[in-house]
Amino acid sequence: MRIDIITVVPDLLKSPFEASILKRSIEKKLVEIHIHNLRDYTTLSYKQIDDYQYGGGAGMVMMVEPIDKCISKLKGERDYDEVIYLTPDGEVLNQAMANTLSLKGNLIMLCGHYKGVDQRVRELFITREISIGDYVLSGGELAAAVLCDSIIRLIPGVLGNETSALTDAFQDDLLSPPIYTRPSTYKGLEVPKILLSGHQRKVDEWRDEKALERTKELRPDLLKED
Ligand code: ADE
Repeated sequence: MRIDIITVVPDLLKSPFEASILKRSIEKKLVEIHIHNLRDYTTLSYKQIDDYQYGGGAGMVMMVEPIDKCISKLKGERDYDEVIYLTPDGEVLNQAMANTLSLKGNLIMLCGHYKGVDQRVRELFITREISIGDYVLSGGELAAAVLCDSIIRLIPGVLGNETSALTDAFQDDLLSPPIYTRPSTYKGLEVPKILLSGHQRKVDEWRDEKALERTKELRPDLLKED
């Protein structure tokens, strides 16, 4: 998979890809991340990429032309499955979307800033708008990092234990059951006996039961049929 991220703040996107699982997935060549500074695509002085809104109003708007130049250059080099705009008015990210996107080959992610992008960017280039939640960030970069993480960890070979992404919370619309490691007793709190029993079928049944219990208690909305 290849992900091209277009941003005005490339520095914000460095560290998420320089540690842990995302770093290893790049080293193993399971994914390529290319970060593009939008300011490299403007011909205006002071590397301007935003301007005042027509009709007045507070806040600058990202101009269509530099975004067009950047996206058109990328599309001239290869085909893309989706051109995603990270914005609080997008579809709210969930596990099903991450699953679908993890099967794609090439993605472009455009990070919004200031008031957002000129409407014509959306009409001309964007195939999907995604929000990471109902709150407003100062830009789309952190949202793009979250989206990348949720997708990349699902690519086969990225996680050491191939089954672990499939048993994540949310993969079956349930939260995870409680988990424990050594010691078996800590400050009087004991690990449930069943987990020490070595009886795998019973352990699995216990986990399913606890996952359902926790979901009913903490996120009953996940159990509602749609
Ligand atoms: N940009 C600003 N806020 C955002 C959010 N919640 N999701 C995606 N992109 C954003």
